[in-house]
Amino acid sequence: MKITNLRARQILDSRGVPTIETEVTLEGGVIGRSAVPGGTSSGEHEAVELRDGGVAYGGKGVSKAVEIINTTLLDELKNHDFDQISLDKKLNQLDGNDNKSQLGANTILSISLAFAWAASRTGFKPLYEYFGQLYENERFTLPRPMFNIMNGGSHGNWATDIQEFMAIPLKPISWAEKLKIGVEVFHQLETLLKGKGYNINVGKEGGFAPQLGSNQEALDLVCQAITSAGYQLGSDVGLGLDVAASEFFDKETKQYELKKDGRSLSTAEMIAWLMELTDRYPIVSIEDGLAEDDWAGWQLLTNRLGTNLQIVGDDLLTTNPDRIKQAIDQQACNALLVKPNQIGTLSETLSAMKLSQQAGWQNVVSHRSGETEDVTIAHLAVGTGAGQIKTGAPNRGERIAKYNELTRIAERVEPTI
Ligand code: PGA
Ligand code: ZN
Repeated sequence: MKITNLRARQILDSRGVPTIETEVTLEGGVIGRSAVPGGTSSGEHEAVELRDGGVAYGGKGVSKAVEIINTTLLDELKNHDFDQISLDKKLNQLDGNDNKSQLGANTILSISLAFAWAASRTGFKPLYEYFGQLYENERFTLPRPMFNIMNGGSHGNWATDIQEFMAIPLKPISWAEKLKIGVEVFHQLETLLKGKGYNINVGKEGGFAPQLGSNQEALDLVCQAITSAGYQLGSDVGLGLDVAASEFFDKETKQYELKKDGRSLSTAEMIAWLMELTDRYPIVSIEDGLAEDDWAGWQLLTNRLGTNLQIVGDDLLTTNPDRIKQAIDQQACNALLVKPNQIGTLSETLSAMKLSQQAGWQNVVSHRSGETEDVTIAHLAVGTGAGQIKTGAPNRGERIAKYNELTRIAERVEPTI
């Protein structure tokens, strides 16, 4: 497929932070468009985001990246024939660095994904089918949603130390029924919080973020909301945590600082605390329970809890095939959080997912805290048969965009898991 034009612009993400939206035009006139998300609690090993620096937008503008696409990259790519793999390869070559620091992973991803949209349209296919073809998957499935209904950490002004408290429908019911559970539990939680005199303002991923007295209080509230919505804890709905532990790990003292609980924990104590929580609550998944370079700790955590629980690497793995290989070798976790902008091309994202799948791990396709109305990840989850998606509370337009797209896809794709 020949690229005939590229057009990038600076738009805003859900945090009011600039991001890149790019349109790729293919020969014949078909246009694909994609906008890149951005992280707040980003991992240290993620590929580099190209930002302007300086004063405007607090240094977060992307006008340089937009300029690079509209001039240099247009010159390089225009009138050349590509498929997804050769385009992503070319973009990586043009950058020349493992961490994409020259052009920026945001610059590169916007082209990679816009091309995917255009390519799928050229073949009159839904995007998930295009992803399925690249991933060699023909079994399209609606993912199990992980509803992040309480936000803490840097997403919720440190309402709690733990960043995300998720309600996860567990039964093999339809997409619509799973979505209904998320919505009902979310609304029950609102009622509960109001009744207790808490504020009902939400965090960056749409979950409530009242200043609570402890981390455990959030778990109690989520459990109560599930029960009062009429669901059975642990059989209908389980809990998921994204501890985002790198965010409160002190590198000097090597301690995990739980400010809400007034505790400072070593790696071993942190693991003991997580084990205690899993004894007390129906937790089925723990993401980033330890800091991103605490490899020995991750091994121990997976050894202790990995048989029964999903142990998800986000900041640990940063969707990076090299780090995933290391984690497979060391049995450091058993699931990959998939964030395309952590690695910067669609091809590398799919390679990361394949590695994980072949190791017998689970894949959880994920949004970022800074999102747009872009719905690519909904298709990625379906097309690869990933099985799970994490895209916030059923609240805030940029989160709802993904849920609504999955509802549309569900009309065409039957199997649910
Ligand atoms: P981020 O958060 O997009 O701010 O990194 C999402 C997550 O940690 O899973
Ligand atoms: Zn995370």
